Amino acid sequence: MSDSQPSSAHPTSFSKDKIKVLLLENIHESAKEMFAADGFQVEMLSTALGEDELKAKLASVHVLGIRSKTQVSAAALADAKRLLALGCFCIGTNQVDLQAAKLHGVPVFNAPFSNTRSVAEMMIAEIIMLARQLGDRSREVHAGKWRKVASNCHEVRGKTVGIIGYGHIGRQVGVLAEMIGLRVLFYDRTTKLPMGNNRCCASLAELLAEADFVTLHVPATRETHEMIGAAELAQMKRGSYLLNASRGTVVQIPPLTAALKSGHLAGAAVDVYPEEPESNVDNFKSELQNLPNVVLTPHVGGSTGEAQAAIGREVATSLLKFINAGSTTGAVNFPQIEMPHLPGTHRILNVHRNVPGVLRDVNHIVSDRDANIQGQMLATDADIGYLIMDLDQDVSDEVHAAIGKLRTNIRTRILY
Ligand code: NAI
Repeated sequence: MSDSQPSSAHPTSFSKDKIKVLLLENIHESAKEMFAADGFQVEMLSTALGEDELKAKLASVHVLGIRSKTQVSAAALADAKRLLALGCFCIGTNQVDLQAAKLHGVPVFNAPFSNTRSVAEMMIAEIIMLARQLGDRSREVHAGKWRKVASNCHEVRGKTVGIIGYGHIGRQVGVLAEMIGLRVLFYDRTTKLPMGNNRCCASLAELLAEADFVTLHVPATRETHEMIGAAELAQMKRGSYLLNASRGTVVQIPPLTAALKSGHLAGAAVDVYPEEPESNVDNFKSELQNLPNVVLTPHVGGSTGEAQAAIGREVATSLLKFINAGSTTGAVNFPQIEMPHLPGTHRILNVHRNVPGVLRDVNHIVSDRDANIQGQMLATDADIGYLIMDLDQDVSDEVHAAIGKLRTNIRTRILY
């Protein structure tokens, strides 16, 4: 085991083949392969589990992996004495009672960025689709109509794309767009280093006034809520296009519909909506349906086999780094620590209630046993403290027992 690489390079106090990993909801095989390669037992189920079934399973499971359908409530966690960590093999984590998991000493990990490339590629495809009205042509031929049209169809080379939100996805769009000859402008609320020849705009208005294609890649926040409305659409060039694969709350649909109907905008590509069905349906309704040159997709920007595989690897990596080294980097409900391994030391992990004096008590316990602390890192939030401690002597069983008796203790684990 090492801190930077979740492998079995160091001996551990636990036998890895006794660690049970339960992966639900058809999580990609890439995750199973990583756990199995590290010597853990892995059980895969294709379905989600209800609360009672989950509770029963969690009695013997050390690592749980879910996607969006399994609800992990405080009740499901209450008796999960062996559970060490939980992985959401998706972006969202609101299916988990994160506070209950934290107070139970269980960090929760997710995969916020594994589908970045998939979204960026879809945006490039859609920019070309809009410029060539390919959605309409395809629909027509499917309906038996042969409409060979060149007017208002364009190459994208030399045109300008304006990226709002220059984060993981926005930057990838900027890089790929330049590769096919688009000029790239971006606007972000924080200062960002431009990629390649991408150019930063000082204001949103400057970007809207210059871009032929405006593509949104901001998160859903109070600030971005309905940030594109009638005023912003009016600032866009006549004949330009809007693309939204960020969140449905970012764009006001009625003024967008009006701008498309009036011809002010020449088209739009929309992947996300103010209200989206929770599962697949046959009666989805949007004002944008049946407008010319409007590409509508059902929130599939990040939905590819490659993204699923990357999500499997990203979350499995985080879980393995926690199990093998105690690292909580990327945990959504836990103080984050990653401490390099010092050869020859013995590592103890402790989660405790965040009240004054815990570190003093823990250090007393260690010094009473004549052990030296070679490395120690503590991070806290309002509720808990998370401590990683490397000792020079293997007094860990005694230390473990003594810390376990502290009133503040939530979880203590000897790593090696
Ligand atoms: P990110 O966090 O890496 O980047 C977001 C960027 O937006 C940051 O640079 C931030 O500074 C900027 N930003 C925030 N508020 C802003 C504002 N008011 N004005 C200008 N810039 C602002 O996020 P990432 O990974 O690039 O994702 C962006 C969006 O894409 C998210 O909303 C995410 O939910 C969505 N998404 C959609 C998918 C789909 O299937 N359609 C899949 C994956 C992500």
